Amino acid sequence: MNKNKIRWGILGCGRIARKFAADLSLVNGAELYAIASHRKENALEFASAYHVPFVYDDYEDMLKNENIDVVYIATTHNFHYENTLLSLHYGKAVLCEKAFAENADQAIEMIQFARSKKLFLMEALWTRFLPHFITMQELIASGIIGEVKTMMNAFGYIPAPDAPARLMKKELAGGSLLDIGVYTIFMALQVLGKPDHIQSQMTMSPTEVDLQTAMIFSYNNGAVAQNICTYQANLAVESFISGTKGFIKLPHRFHAPLEFIELGTHGILNKKTIPVKYTGGFGLHFEITHVMDCLYAGKTESNMMSHADSLLLMQTMDEVKKQARVNF
Ligand SMILES: NC(=O)c1ccc[n+]([C@@H]2O[C@H](COP(=O)([O-])OP(=O)(O)OC[C@H]3O[C@@H](n4cnc5c(N)ncnc54)[C@H](OP(=O)(O)O)[C@@H]3O)[C@@H](O)[C@H]2O)c1
Repeated sequence: MNKNKIRWGILGCGRIARKFAADLSLVNGAELYAIASHRKENALEFASAYHVPFVYDDYEDMLKNENIDVVYIATTHNFHYENTLLSLHYGKAVLCEKAFAENADQAIEMIQFARSKKLFLMEALWTRFLPHFITMQELIASGIIGEVKTMMNAFGYIPAPDAPARLMKKELAGGSLLDIGVYTIFMALQVLGKPDHIQSQMTMSPTEVDLQTAMIFSYNNGAVAQNICTYQANLAVESFISGTKGFIKLPHRFHAPLEFIELGTHGILNKKTIPVKYTGGFGLHFEITHVMDCLYAGKTESNMMSHADSLLLMQTMDEVKKQARVNF
């Protein structure tokens, strides 16, 4: 893309869209050009708060604006598929929030359509671009903890009374797996790859979404990842990665920006902290910068969060549901 500025549109103006809009202002060359929210009052207030010149209360009307280069989809999970297809139809590059889709079949269609249109498409799995995650990957690649054999990835909290209604609503593709379990699975897939076997168990809510999901991923080389996500208990949101020579721990809120991670190479009680350079914002500016770099380079797919990465995530979540004998 031969441009000084890249013009962004935001589709769906809820909670994460506000953080995204704030972090967009930290990225050189990024312009928040348009937003769309079905709630007119919300759209106007959002546009005023983030100084957005073009405001719409209809998604398709925004997508008809030919000056928008890339659309950030920040709607609930159930809408990602249709919002992505519509944005691609209007010739926009797309950054779509996690979970990418409701299931792998939708993800395949989204990817195929983007490829047929030669348009950029990426899942907004922000953790992938955070400095501490990259430091963790470098440490593992250096061999300092040896071959990874065991992982424990946990993400759980009891939602506050003012938490978004989407968390528990079946029709909005709610439940802990797609919303927060996705991060625990992402960790296991990034470090250990596709599991050879999956076992899982779910506790369902009266609204027929998973309140809690426990997963065991096992690998033919003997490695195991234990992942848990829950809305019925508060957990330390940590990722523990242990190998034949040592371990790395990503401390609480492992999926979000961290200023340090822990490394142990002489027994479990003997650890040191590795500082990680993190500057500014909520941490979404790292993924935004990456998308901008891809667009400037004329890429239609990210090499850091590829279509195959998103597809494997969705296929794995489908398998987790299948193994738990739950169909929702
Ligand atoms: N990267 C992160 O750290 C992070 C954090 C939180 C969430 N997320 C992801 O971001 C996405 C949005 O999450 P959020 O917490 O921002 O959600 P949210 O505040 O509940 O809503 C997001 C938008 O979805 C639409 N929406 C919500 N409920 C709806 C309903 N009942 N019917 C029709 N449309 C509805 C609304 O669009 P309108 O504005 O058009 O009304 C709303 O603005 C999800 O995919 C979530 O997993 C990511």
